[in-house]
Amino acid sequence: MREEIINTKNTALAQIMDAVAEEELERLRIEYLGRNGKINNLLSRIKELDPSERKNLGSLINESKKTIEDAIKQRINEFTSKSISGSEWFDLSIPGILPRIGNLHAQTKVLTKILDIFSFLGYRIADGPEIEKDYYNFEILNFPKDHPARDAQQTMFFDTTGTKNKPGELIPRTHTSAMQGRIMEKTKPPFRVVVPGRCFRYEQVDASHGVDFWQVEGFAVDEDIRFTDLLGTIDFVLRELFGQGVKIRFATTFFPFVEPGVDTYISCTACNGKGCGFCKRSGWSEVMPAGMIHPNVLNACKIDSEKWRGFAFAIGLSRAVCLKYQIDDIRILYNPDIRILKQY
Ligand code: PHE
Repeated sequence: MREEIINTKNTALAQIMDAVAEEELERLRIEYLGRNGKINNLLSRIKELDPSERKNLGSLINESKKTIEDAIKQRINEFTSKSISGSEWFDLSIPGILPRIGNLHAQTKVLTKILDIFSFLGYRIADGPEIEKDYYNFEILNFPKDHPARDAQQTMFFDTTGTKNKPGELIPRTHTSAMQGRIMEKTKPPFRVVVPGRCFRYEQVDASHGVDFWQVEGFAVDEDIRFTDLLGTIDFVLRELFGQGVKIRFATTFFPFVEPGVDTYISCTACNGKGCGFCKRSGWSEVMPAGMIHPNVLNACKIDSEKWRGFAFAIGLSRAVCLKYQIDDIRILYNPDIRILKQY
């Protein structure tokens, strides 16, 4: 009988919820709670039960009765309040409550735009591990174990005590260039690839540094690729991203996996190169280191450097987002406050 009581209550509640008119609720009230209704019928059968069960089942029936009564009352209320507001005082001019809609993060927007530009230029998009082997982060990229250029990468290390790993064998990758080797050793040229991803460095966190940040790596290998192709690509991409009017400047730099290497600066997006607080009065901002892929790297990836040439670059994505939206503190990109996120 316990089941029968519970079923009766559940069926009643379902019907009450489904009711579309007040009359229907009245009909249900009679069906369940009326003198000859289902609840009374259950109550009248209590005396046939074993005395040990009477008390429990009796109160279960009474609780069900109360639940059904309440549900009917509540639905009747809903109908009455609707009809009052409908006929008498529904003020059509009251603005509605807008549902809260989220929006894409500033960084997602800039990344999508960058990937669109490169897709247009025929680049494939790839993804790779954030925890990387020393081999791909350094060794294959022409950074031997004791090369001083490793220092510039501010590598973070895992505590490997009690694990099978040797210290330094696996590291949080310091740059997306780690994907160059992974892709080049498996892919027959010609190819063009971009790899967005998170990188990690041991930095003192401040307005322009975080311990993690994003880069978009890119590289192309073909038979007749020249330095001017690299400069032209950078020029095209940065103008698409920051607007045709942006000024671009190159300066030589060193990375062991490129030769020659260049740093790319754009005129400050806040003051148009005049110098302001945002660009620390310099008028310029470094956004895209690049260079021609070093023959040692091609050879280590089993690509014949006599036949093939390539270029590589990395866009500092977090930096690019700040420049695009004139955000003067990189930490804002990691702030989950909806009032901040909504502004971009
Ligand atoms: N991986 C370099 C860095 O972040 C940037 C870079 C990429 C330079 C590709 C040249 C070519 O330190």
